[in-house]
Amino acid sequence: MTLTIELKPSSTPKSTEEREALKAVGGFGQIFTDNMVTIRYTEGRGWHDAVLEPYGPVSLDPAASVLHYGQEIFEGLKAFKAADGQIVSFRPDANAARFNRSAARMAMPELPEDLFLAAIDALVSTDREWVPEGEGRSLYLRPFMFATQVGLGVNSPSAEYLFMLIAGPAGSYFAGGVKPVTVWLCEDYVRAVKGGTGEAKCGGNYAASFLAQAQAVEQGCDQVVWLDGFEHKYVEEMGSNNLYFVYGEGENARLMTPALTGSLLPGITRDSLLKVAADLGIPAEEGTISVEQWRQGIESGEITEVFGCGTAAVVTPLGKVKSKDGEFAIGHGEPGPVTLRIREALLDIQTGKAADLHHWLRKIA
Ligand SMILES: Cc1ncc(COP(=O)(O)O)c(C=O)c1O
Repeated sequence: MTLTIELKPSSTPKSTEEREALKAVGGFGQIFTDNMVTIRYTEGRGWHDAVLEPYGPVSLDPAASVLHYGQEIFEGLKAFKAADGQIVSFRPDANAARFNRSAARMAMPELPEDLFLAAIDALVSTDREWVPEGEGRSLYLRPFMFATQVGLGVNSPSAEYLFMLIAGPAGSYFAGGVKPVTVWLCEDYVRAVKGGTGEAKCGGNYAASFLAQAQAVEQGCDQVVWLDGFEHKYVEEMGSNNLYFVYGEGENARLMTPALTGSLLPGITRDSLLKVAADLGIPAEEGTISVEQWRQGIESGEITEVFGCGTAAVVTPLGKVKSKDGEFAIGHGEPGPVTLRIREALLDIQTGKAADLHHWLRKIA
């Protein structure tokens, strides 16, 4: 391996009682484990000082490049505890590859895949007691990297970076059952344009999305649906989810997900579902769909279900679409059968209930 991660875990980890109480809280992104991993990069020296250390604040110079020019990327993935007690991470190699594609787009150094995987293995293994058990529960892993060079010059990318990995227990996203969400078709703002950073998982994309998300909430919606940045006509993705459209029903059901045009995030759940659908004998393809085709498809009954997919919530059914021109409903307030079947098939693979045909699970020692 390129570099060994030095293990200096917390000498004061949470007591069993405290930890179990925190794990029982559920929710997402508020509670973190005892430790974290940090790895530094310096131009000319490469990656160095890889350490697993107690979770805690980082100290940054006020002139650190990330605070001014936003050079930051991140990933999101999960580790699960299977029924037999084995802890696994789901497709971490796919996240490593996307992390490095994001790094390349943001003129940041790539992190060798073996080091990305070693960081995950080290943290999940050390903090293994934090991995929750049970339906829909997981340890959410957040790798990220940002520019730490001191100086306000904007002519070149930072020469120094900090990679970090933190983790926290995540409850089931849909406590009390999967419920369809209402979405807002965002026509005032765009998330990304071709040639921009839409394909990269960089913080700036999310900063640029909060205003539209706030507008969606004002309209009584849960999430934003993004349209293409050029014609504002073609459906791209939803909040932090990719989208799937179900055409037909029963034996004749087939799936379509918007093609990766350069402005969508290439979701790992999206990619996994293309393969899971094929395994289930449901034809699935990449394509395009305009808002008008979506509305007409619902009206004619050709489109029977629509769902979002992403690491956090896995599969989220859409129940209603709102826009400045009015609204239309999808289904009758309950998740559709194809949506539920696909969701369960993926969860079964992640939790070891179904065979891991595609070798997506990485065992944590
Ligand atoms: C904008 C966006 N689209 C799609 C996704 C789904 O990607 P994944 O399935 O890799 O979580 C995410 C979440 O990471 C996202 O932030």
